[in-house]
Amino acid sequence: MFSIAIDGPSGAGKSTVADILAEEYGFVHVDTGAMYRTIGLYLLRNQIDPSDENAVSKALCNLDLNVEYIDKKQHVYLNGEDVTPFIRTNEVSTYASKSSALKPVRDYLLDAQRNVAKKYNVIMDGRDIGTVILPHANVKFFMNASTESRAHRRHKELLEKGESITFEKVLSSMLERDKNDSSRKIAPAIPAEDSIPLDNSGPIEETIAFAKNVINERLGK
Ligand code: DC
Repeated sequence: MFSIAIDGPSGAGKSTVADILAEEYGFVHVDTGAMYRTIGLYLLRNQIDPSDENAVSKALCNLDLNVEYIDKKQHVYLNGEDVTPFIRTNEVSTYASKSSALKPVRDYLLDAQRNVAKKYNVIMDGRDIGTVILPHANVKFFMNASTESRAHRRHKELLEKGESITFEKVLSSMLERDKNDSSRKIAPAIPAEDSIPLDNSGPIEETIAFAKNVINERLGK
């Protein structure tokens, strides 16, 4: 199996780039953030403090999380319900970021993520794919973009989804999540030593062209 890891902070455009590359190479795009978001959604719906390790641990026993690929598109199921449309709100982002710092949450998702990569050729995006989940990935990218452009991207996405939120609020909660995600003790969002930096501040076509060159070379194309 061939695997490509794309890690990086929120709003860098990992998902969009991974979608395009997955289509191009016929790989499955595994969006691991969606799995953390599904847990975040469960905690939010059940009013469980996402930083309370004991409470979150108990919650995980009542939670059945499934990931399916329908026409190569990822759907996440929470106790049998397809919650894919409900996981992209700003509130769920906060719950996902806080609970993702907890070991029980990361342990819960580790095998699920590795198992997909055993079954399919994957392009997997997240925070710790190159460092923890797929340390032997064939290609590892660490993607970034300027803070402004990341916040603009997230703001636009939320407005399109009908959430009424100011740019300033998006920016401040994004910076707070970045801090949580990159400074946590377990699996912080940092580049793997053998990762290739992928800057997505400019036109997406340039990012894709750069990534394709690297991937083609590794595929021996
Ligand atoms: O990529 P995203 O914004 O959908 O991720 C939501 C949160 O989940 C993010 O704040 C950090 C966490 N996450 C993580 O800790 N590890 C991953 N592999 C993916 C996401």
